[in-house]
Amino acid sequence: MARIIDGKKISEEIKEELKSEVLALGEKGIVPELAVILVGEDGASQIYVKNKERVAKEVGISSEVMRLSVETSQEELEKIILQYNADEKIHGILVQLPLSKHIDAKRIINLIDPKKDVDCFHPENVGKLMIGDARFLPCTPAGILELLERSELLVEGKNVVVVGRSNIVGKPLAVMLINLGATVTVCNSKTKNLKEICAQADILVSATGRAGLICEDMVKQAAVVIDVGMNRDENGKLCGDVDYIHVCDKTHCITPVPGGVGPMTIMMLMRNTILAAKNKFVI
Ligand code: GUN
Repeated sequence: MARIIDGKKISEEIKEELKSEVLALGEKGIVPELAVILVGEDGASQIYVKNKERVAKEVGISSEVMRLSVETSQEELEKIILQYNADEKIHGILVQLPLSKHIDAKRIINLIDPKKDVDCFHPENVGKLMIGDARFLPCTPAGILELLERSELLVEGKNVVVVGRSNIVGKPLAVMLINLGATVTVCNSKTKNLKEICAQADILVSATGRAGLICEDMVKQAAVVIDVGMNRDENGKLCGDVDYIHVCDKTHCITPVPGGVGPMTIMMLMRNTILAAKNKFVI
């Protein structure tokens, strides 16, 4: 029987640890504060931002959400970023993605003060991550590594296959795994022989956004399977990239969707915000 990696439970444990850190900072007169910028009315983004607000409150982090109209211009958005950069009270800045087409998202990300870049999307922070000198760890990859570590699953020396090459998950996760001594193969949904490559993995991570992409014959017996997918099935039910019912019994450990990687991502954002608040007083 597969062991289910309970991301909800593990994220609750981390939440308690973070609450203690926030209390200790509070005694020094520091209240971590996160500024979240949401442009437009995208339904999924609105839910993500609400969840970030709720968890921040539970942890004791102060959060300020700026909700802007879909018509907000590049110049207006840039002005707001610069204001948050200059605001001493704000330790973390997050611009919810995706942004509307008329906005140059790269320019926006480049404008965020790297010391406040709690998403770890700024090129300076991505570069630091690459050379093993990370300032922040990107939230979803950090959440995945935390799940593995807290489930006592070592990555050093393992064959890890990452399916997905996004800047948010696949690419930074691959870098972090390399830095930890894993042997990493990065695939995507169009990779030739995807089945054979996945079937070699000791640890298989899928982050493609394609429901049912990972089936039973792509998974090695007793592998660890991490599902980063957030998809809707034909009935509108939340599901991952993995054909969970058929894959589950074959694995040593597997993350469910929902309740696997998702809750960890938000908790890592909270951890980065606390780190940003601490760093400000260390440096
Ligand atoms: N949209 C989807 N995932 C993310 C994320 O991790 N950070 C931000 N800022 N936007 C997202």
